[in-house]
Amino acid sequence: MTQTIPKNFIIGAASSAWQTEGWQGKKEGQDSFLDAWFKEESFVWQNGYGPDIATNFMEHYQKDVDLMAEIHLTHYRTSINWSRFFTDYEQLTVDEEYAQHIDQLIDALIAAGVEPMLCLEHYELPRFLMDKYDGWSSKKVVELFTGYAEIAFERYGDRVKHWFTFNEPIVVQTRCYLDAIRYPHEQNTKKWMTWNYHKVLATAKVVKLYHEKNYSGRIGCVVNPEMVYPRSSSEADQKAARIYDLFFNKVFFDPLVHGSYPQELLDLCQQHEIMFDASPEELQLIQENTVDFLGVNQYYPKRVKAPRYQWHPETPFHPEQYYENFELPGRQMNNSRGWEIYPDIMYDMAMIIKNDYGNIPWLITENGMGRENEESYLDESGVIQDDYRIDFIRQHLASLLRAVADGSSCEGYMLWALTDCVSPMNAFKNRYGLIRIDLANQHARSLKKSARWYQSLIDDRLLN
Ligand code: BG6
Repeated sequence: MTQTIPKNFIIGAASSAWQTEGWQGKKEGQDSFLDAWFKEESFVWQNGYGPDIATNFMEHYQKDVDLMAEIHLTHYRTSINWSRFFTDYEQLTVDEEYAQHIDQLIDALIAAGVEPMLCLEHYELPRFLMDKYDGWSSKKVVELFTGYAEIAFERYGDRVKHWFTFNEPIVVQTRCYLDAIRYPHEQNTKKWMTWNYHKVLATAKVVKLYHEKNYSGRIGCVVNPEMVYPRSSSEADQKAARIYDLFFNKVFFDPLVHGSYPQELLDLCQQHEIMFDASPEELQLIQENTVDFLGVNQYYPKRVKAPRYQWHPETPFHPEQYYENFELPGRQMNNSRGWEIYPDIMYDMAMIIKNDYGNIPWLITENGMGRENEESYLDESGVIQDDYRIDFIRQHLASLLRAVADGSSCEGYMLWALTDCVSPMNAFKNRYGLIRIDLANQHARSLKKSARWYQSLIDDRLLN
């Protein structure tokens, strides 16, 4: 069945500063907390390629912009690298050289007919703030982030009309403090919840600031709600899904859109002694400063079932006390990443936003498919034949467009990623791009088969 893509529905692509820039030109002390992890633990530094060079975007950004123009892309999301934007994070002393790079990037995009969308943090928390204040554990970091946002708006707010505070605000602390698989490897569920809260508070403060200064764009946050499916309709499985949803989805969705937390989540936090420190004034601020719109990242479904075992009372609290992961028999998998492929997540998530969040304006800010050993799909003419990516996009976009036809307020779809890039967990193992980065050949860029197919979507506005 052919579906028509509505006239103003955005078809774009995304990326982030840390995953593309590399360390070229970075000054002493400008590491992000993730750079520290890579440097100190040499984590997944595949074939010698890691975040040090990334895609060498600082040098090659104009080439990427030219390729965006070549495939008629109209929207591109990336981030400002907070850890490079200042030479002093507390005095808010701007690194002019880096700030000018962002200026040039924005101007180049606009000149090529591509609207820039900017995010203020996507893995770029400065290491200095991690070491000195324990990162988002501290309200001081909320204050410094607000100061950073103010300068970014002053500098770029005339040309950038879509802003996001965070990309996937729950992910970093889930890796660092809940699962403790990433630097600084500390299991601490209360700290996890505090980081969650401080990013909500920071978003409210930045939204307030943006509105007070009367900029003509929109400010939001990129969330990554997981579409949760219980194993069965049994009460126990339903409860597992409901509690998972509270801890991992509603924990951001509700305060960002409704301005308040679900009471059941607050009760659970009290019961398990992980309640964050929130003053009545802060909660009021959150209530009064909800986001204008949302970015939503969607990759895979989350399937859960009731836990089989009771947790030992001495074991530190982890939300896993309430659920276990469930593998659907016969599921379709992306084995390169270990993620289930289930395109209905797009429709189902759109309906949750429609029914529970007043159909707030939103767009898919990330969806895509990473593939291992992609070089083996090169044909004789040197083009990667990534038909699996085309199928993945086709199925997910079809599901999303069905939701739009059913009244969803979704405004667009942005693919992850524009180019192959570094992943915090997998370096360059999995390739996600429409554009190939040839690491062994001076990071040369070339369009994959999917890029031309994406161009036809943009040009014809038809999904076959
Ligand atoms: C998203 C992130 O969750 O997933 C991206 O916002 C990331 O930054 C993408 O690259 C794909 O995940 P991964 O771990 O395979 O890079």
